[in-house]
Amino acid sequence: MKPVDYDGRQHTVYATGRALPGETTRTWAEAFSARAPAQRPLTVLDLGSGTGRFTPLLADTFGGPVYGVEPSSGMREQAAAHPAVRYLQGRGETVPLPDSTCDLALLFLSLHHFTDPPAAAAELRRVLRPGGRVLIRSTFSDRMPDLLWHRYFPSARGIEERTFPSLPATLDLFAAAGLEFVALDRIRELSAPSLAAYAERLRLRAISTFEHLSEAEIEQGLAALATDAAAEQVPHPVYLDSDLLTLALRRAEASCAG
Ligand SMILES: C[S@@+](CC[C@H](N)C(=O)[O-])C[C@H]1O[C@@H](n2cnc3c(N)ncnc32)[C@H](O)[C@@H]1O
Repeated sequence: MKPVDYDGRQHTVYATGRALPGETTRTWAEAFSARAPAQRPLTVLDLGSGTGRFTPLLADTFGGPVYGVEPSSGMREQAAAHPAVRYLQGRGETVPLPDSTCDLALLFLSLHHFTDPPAAAAELRRVLRPGGRVLIRSTFSDRMPDLLWHRYFPSARGIEERTFPSLPATLDLFAAAGLEFVALDRIRELSAPSLAAYAERLRLRAISTFEHLSEAEIEQGLAALATDAAAEQVPHPVYLDSDLLTLALRRAEASCAG
């Protein structure tokens, strides 16, 4: 699958098209807190931080400092400033942080974009402190959720099955780097408070899978969605199920620095 260029169209629509309702922000803050190491404050790496949807939230939740590492300058430039956050040019394969500096790393929908996943897993192991954890919010090809928008864009599901790694492959990848399984949680989040709001957001095409769909399929799907949204009598919230995988660095595997 051709890599998605976030410095192309995506960075111009992502922050608006993927903005989170307040309820959803709280859902994720609780999910991250439940699986993070217990001590506070935590130094956090937001790897593939994009427009910083979660980066300030991580600082507020865990006390900071937080490093948002992101290869796309267009995405990085959209991010809001926060006193405990630093946004850095970098990527999963080359994280611009010293050894053993982070207690927690978040990979929120970034894993499937890595060009060299084993190199990224080794980098995570390098920058984590002993007992550090990795939270991976991803879709897994063998655990595809039933997503409303897939019904409107019939090719999307197949594209995502080819784009996302399977859960066993992901576990093997990270186990080889000394990161072992802790938990797999299915998180239900509010995607939009109504079908109309959902349709309005999808019109921005701020999902990288859209970059692989034909213009004809996109237009047809958006038209069908707009028709259904126009027929909505009372607001019908749209929910989304996704996986949050938690891994931990085996203490014996951590780099020696403190
Ligand atoms: C779907 S966005 C997710 C952004 C953010 N985590 C969020 O949830 O809003 C995927 C992000 O991964 C970034 N990305 C692409 N290749 C990457 C790599 N090799 N390492 C780290 N991030 C990468 C993209 O530039 C993009 O900002």
